[in-house]
Amino acid sequence: MFQARTSDTPRDKATLYSDLALDLTGLLTDERDAIANAANLSALLFTTLPDLNWAGFYFMRNTAPKTPNGGNLGGTRELVLGPFQGKPACVRIAVGRGVCGTAVERRQSVLVEDVHAFPGHIACDAASRSELVVPLILDGQVLGVIDLDSPSPARFDAADQAGIEALAKLFVTGSDWPL
Ligand code: SME
Repeated sequence: MFQARTSDTPRDKATLYSDLALDLTGLLTDERDAIANAANLSALLFTTLPDLNWAGFYFMRNTAPKTPNGGNLGGTRELVLGPFQGKPACVRIAVGRGVCGTAVERRQSVLVEDVHAFPGHIACDAASRSELVVPLILDGQVLGVIDLDSPSPARFDAADQAGIEALAKLFVTGSDWPL
């Protein structure tokens, strides 16, 4: 049984994220399956970080065929829903669309204090008010994103971004690619 090092005692964010890094390192020990590791990391984030309504992954995959008989005609790539915790979410997001697609296009984290003020934000859960998306990058290639949503405005700050970026790095280097 997984035993989190984390406790219910209030911690500052630096301590919280270094505890989470220890927990994730434990989860990644002896397991390199990316889907399994993503599933456990989404559960770890959702059950540990306060004030979230969604925590999960989108992975870069081939675009769905556009014709009944067609294959992958364009050979383009898009984000496809991966393991997550929260309400069911939209499945496919084009690069450059929404907060997630913007993070892929910029190859950088995107921190949104007010999703209503972000042009093109994709509302999967009407309760979401702020969002943090961190790209997963290996050898310069974007593999996908980690997406966190909160029902509170301005829930995420630079400490959350740095903490999730560190966890993303552990997850990417501790898993096998491609999926
Ligand atoms: N809000 C995201 C879509 C994914 S859901 O939040 C789970 C976006 O704008 O890309």
